[in-house]
Amino acid sequence: MAPDATQLTLPAILTLLGVLLPGPGGAQISVQPPKAIIPRGGSVQVNCSDSCDLLGLETQSIKREVAHGNNWKTYELSNIQEDGSPICFSNCHKQQTKVATSITVYWFPERVELESLPHWQPVGKNLTLRCQVEGGAPRPHLSVVLLRGEEELSRQMKVNLTEVTATVLAGRDDHGANFSCRTELDLRSEGLGLFQNISVPRQLRTFVLPVTNPHLATPLIMEVGTRQLVNCTLVGLFPASEAQVQLVLGDQKLEPTIKYNDDFLWASAWVEAKPKEEGNHQLTCAVTLGNESRMSHQTVTIYSFPPPSLNLSQLEVSELTVVSVECKAHAGAVVMLSGAPAGPPAPSAQFQLNVTAEDNGHSFLCSAVLEVAGEVLYKNETLKLSVLYGPQLNEKDCPGNWTWQEGSQQTLRCQASGNPTPKLDCRQNGTGSLLPIGDLHPVKREIAGTYVCRAKSSRGEVIRQVIVNVIYHDNNMIIIMLVTAAFIVSVVLTGAYLYNRQRKIREYKLQKAQEAAAMKLNTPP
Ligand SMILES: *[C@@H]1O[C@H](CO)[C@@H](O)[C@H](O)[C@H]1NC(C)=O
Ligand SMILES: *[C@@H]1O[C@H](CO)[C@@H](O)[C@H](O)[C@H]1NC(C)=O
Ligand SMILES: *[C@@H]1O[C@H](CO)[C@@H](O)[C@H](O)[C@H]1NC(C)=O
Ligand SMILES: *[C@@H]1O[C@H](CO)[C@@H](O)[C@H](O)[C@H]1NC(C)=O
Ligand SMILES: *[C@@H]1O[C@H](CO)[C@@H](O)[C@H](O)[C@H]1NC(C)=O
Ligand SMILES: *[C@@H]1O[C@H](CO)[C@@H](O)[C@H](O)[C@H]1NC(C)=O
Ligand SMILES: *[C@@H]1O[C@H](CO)[C@@H](O)[C@H](O)[C@H]1NC(C)=O
Ligand SMILES: *[C@@H]1O[C@H](CO)[C@@H](O)[C@H](O)[C@H]1NC(C)=O
Ligand SMILES: *[C@@H]1O[C@H](CO)[C@@H](O)[C@H](O)[C@H]1NC(C)=O
Ligand SMILES: *[C@@H]1O[C@H](CO)[C@@H](O)[C@H](O)[C@H]1NC(C)=O
Ligand SMILES: *[C@@H]1O[C@H](CO)[C@@H](O)[C@H](O)[C@H]1NC(C)=O
Ligand SMILES: *[C@@H]1O[C@H](CO)[C@@H](O)[C@H](O)[C@H]1NC(C)=O
Repeated sequence: MAPDATQLTLPAILTLLGVLLPGPGGAQISVQPPKAIIPRGGSVQVNCSDSCDLLGLETQSIKREVAHGNNWKTYELSNIQEDGSPICFSNCHKQQTKVATSITVYWFPERVELESLPHWQPVGKNLTLRCQVEGGAPRPHLSVVLLRGEEELSRQMKVNLTEVTATVLAGRDDHGANFSCRTELDLRSEGLGLFQNISVPRQLRTFVLPVTNPHLATPLIMEVGTRQLVNCTLVGLFPASEAQVQLVLGDQKLEPTIKYNDDFLWASAWVEAKPKEEGNHQLTCAVTLGNESRMSHQTVTIYSFPPPSLNLSQLEVSELTVVSVECKAHAGAVVMLSGAPAGPPAPSAQFQLNVTAEDNGHSFLCSAVLEVAGEVLYKNETLKLSVLYGPQLNEKDCPGNWTWQEGSQQTLRCQASGNPTPKLDCRQNGTGSLLPIGDLHPVKREIAGTYVCRAKSSRGEVIRQVIVNVIYHDNNMIIIMLVTAAFIVSVVLTGAYLYNRQRKIREYKLQKAQEAAAMKLNTPP
């Protein structure tokens, strides 16, 4: 400290002495200007004057005498690189007197640079901005300002360091913000201006990646030949649009479709289960943002499970033949065959059957059962048996005796069974007219009669008699009785009239005879 202080203060003391005190020999020495501020590499003229004109200038700089008078000399100092204190001296009367002038050199910083920012800065963590300033003088007039856009984050005055730092808490708003560093050399107090130099701006990227892992939605098992959408989602990240998503199955990279909004990311990709990929695979979803990533894994089992092969020795047989039923599963599976004798599950099952007409249309079901990654899967296969048998007409499907009221609504049912389906017709014995099978409305008495129903197919023919009775009331007797009654009534009425008339005629004739007798008596002779 001590030598430094001496160096700094010596010229000042000398200047003071030179200006204020005359030399011991009495020579008055002065210098113009007593202080100057010049740009680095610039020049300045110094005028030394005294009373006796034996002058000189002591300096480290290049000097040149440019003018002189009786008791003064003017020197030009050029290419001045640093601060200095040239000293005017005079040797008057063998005595030396001195006076110093103070020259301050100013220059702008040669380098103002903001140290590169982290590639990605987590939100909520402190970020240290470092500004490197090289050169520039005089330092007591130099300030360094750190900026976000146009906003001043910090200002440090009278900087005498090469690095200036400031700490900022990174936020979401800082994503995409430009940071820079500016130096200000303020020489306004020296009659000069304010000189600014600014660094190249640097853009910051901030991010948020939650601690939770992405949610992976995938089927746990997949059958060969199928394809499925698997989804990977993550909530709470920022900026979602900048996140990278990788979906990988085993060693195969999937091509996801990615969608996002403010803080939500959704990636979805098709997974195809190919035959050569049978087995367990790891599905991985990795979301990368900034220098961090989160990932989730899930095991996906790809399996193949062909349906069982169910076989009937014949699909179409005559009744009373023996049919063998067989079902075989493919590797790893076991079968359950309907109708087979009970037993432990096995890769295949078979049995034989002596078929009857009732077995026509019977379905045989074979279920193959496979367990994949703890899940039990079924594949079913069915086959229908066709049994050929001759026509049949029985009481159940074609009743032989119908008795109906005339005019009622009835359904006449008659069906023949058989495989192939037989042709059926019912004709009246004698007339040969067809029996109308189906709905009858109303029942007419004409259909009454005895019919012969005939069912016929390639496998034979059967006949069945059907009697149709129709009950009705005969109306003719009533008409005859009514006509007879009317006749009797009319005969009686006619008889009564004639009798009455005869009686009246007789009474009249008697009266006439009585009157004639009376007149005979009353008449004088
Ligand atoms: C130098 O100083 C002297 C005394 O003050 C003055 O007379 C003279 O004119 C000056 N010279 C110049 C070039 O200014
Ligand atoms: C960030 O720095 C400030 C001081 O500069 C300090 O108070 C704060 O606790 C720091 N925050 C974090 C998250 O480090
Ligand atoms: C400038 O630097 C010196 C040492 O190099 C130090 O003593 C002084 O405190 C510094 N001044 C400022 C204002 O930082
Ligand atoms: C930061 O600078 C870049 C280019 O230098 C510009 O595209 C971007 O808009 C700036 N950001 C802001 C927030 O001004
Ligand atoms: C610094 O700024 C000044 C003007 O303010 C300019 O003349 C100079 O070239 C700048 N320096 C650099 C290194 O940019
Ligand atoms: C994935 O998302 C799609 C569309 O939202 C949906 O249809 C599909 O079932 C999802 N996949 C899974 C495995 O959840
Ligand atoms: C990410 O970068 C930050 C600083 O930028 C560092 O602290 C952190 O350890 C890095 N994380 C990883 C996973 O590299
Ligand atoms: C089914 O069985 C028959 C006779 O038993 C055989 O000829 C045929 O090849 C079998 N079909 C299949 C698919 O196994
Ligand atoms: C099938 O069953 C019928 C009657 O039940 C019998 O007569 C016939 O012999 C059986 N056929 C065979 C091949 O067993
Ligand atoms: C197959 O049959 C089994 C019974 O044997 C049944 O539980 C399953 O639902 C059936 N599956 C299909 C697809 O029909
Ligand atoms: C038909 O049925 C009626 C009564 O329902 C019965 O009187 C008649 O004897 C039966 N005829 C035959 C042939 O069975
Ligand atoms: C049909 O009528 C004929 C005579 O016409 C008779 O021989 C035959 O037995 C009758 N059939 C039936 C089923 O009544």
